Amino acid sequence: MSKKILEVENLRINVLDGTPLVKGVSFRVCKGRVLGIIGESGSGKTMTCKAIMQLLSKKNFDISGKIEFKNRNMLDMKEKEINKIIGKDISMIMQNPMTAFNPMFKIGNQIIETLMTHSNITKKDAYDIGVKELEKMNLDRAHEIMNSYPYSLSGGMLQRIMIAISLMLTPSVIIADEATTALDVKTQSLILSEFERIRDNDIGLIVVSHDFGVIARIADDVIVMKDGEIIENGTVYDIFDNTKDDYTKELLSARLLRKEVS
Ligand SMILES: Nc1ncnc2c1ncn2[C@@H]1O[C@H](COP(=O)(O)OP(=O)(O)OP(=O)(O)O)[C@@H](O)[C@H]1O
Ligand SMILES: [Mg+2]
Repeated sequence: MSKKILEVENLRINVLDGTPLVKGVSFRVCKGRVLGIIGESGSGKTMTCKAIMQLLSKKNFDISGKIEFKNRNMLDMKEKEINKIIGKDISMIMQNPMTAFNPMFKIGNQIIETLMTHSNITKKDAYDIGVKELEKMNLDRAHEIMNSYPYSLSGGMLQRIMIAISLMLTPSVIIADEATTALDVKTQSLILSEFERIRDNDIGLIVVSHDFGVIARIADDVIVMKDGEIIENGTVYDIFDNTKDDYTKELLSARLLRKEVS
């Protein structure tokens, strides 16, 4: 049995007027395993991820249930404690890398600041770690990248830089919400290999994707969401090859380019 890192239990997200968006979702994220989340647009995948990342303001949403990390419910934690975990122990790779960077600052400064916020190191050490991690992500000319502004780099490069930044902080859980959707096939494949490396480093990974080829390649377990609920869950083989559920069948058959699970 893989070790549980994060457990979401009966998560409910309502808009303050009472409209339910996520209706009692439960799942586990385990060390060295990839959890794939699939489901039609609007089914609550991103909302669930944002709730884990504590990105949903209490001013707009009523959130209940449990998001348990290291045996504590993050929904009961004070903001100060949350800030120590989010971005450090649990990080998210966003769909649009452009929005993750501040256009006003060079990549290197943003990397250094992130590292120095979460760990007690010097600027010089932060710079060196930054260069090393960029190189690990197959990014050549790491010094040049550190000295560049986000607009001068391609989307694929920024995505890889964002993944490198997530890894620098040695998180236990990484959430990738449509992280490869906008990329060309070659970059996508590179990033999926990187996800496989992440998984092998005993990190728990959540991958949300409309691309079933991506899920089939990388996920160990899959949950299928519809209208804010999980309607089916199981291993990738249970879901992709042996689903008994009509909605899942429909969802999968709607994707003509789906690759078979090998
Ligand atoms: N800020 C918001 N206020 C109110 N409702 C919202 C807000 N953001 C999203 N929703 C609604 O919450 C539901 C779930 O949205 P969510 O973004 O989680 O879907 P998704 O499964 O990620 O879809 P997609 O595959 O298109 O990314 C949708 O009905 C959406 O309209
Ligand atoms: Mg989404």
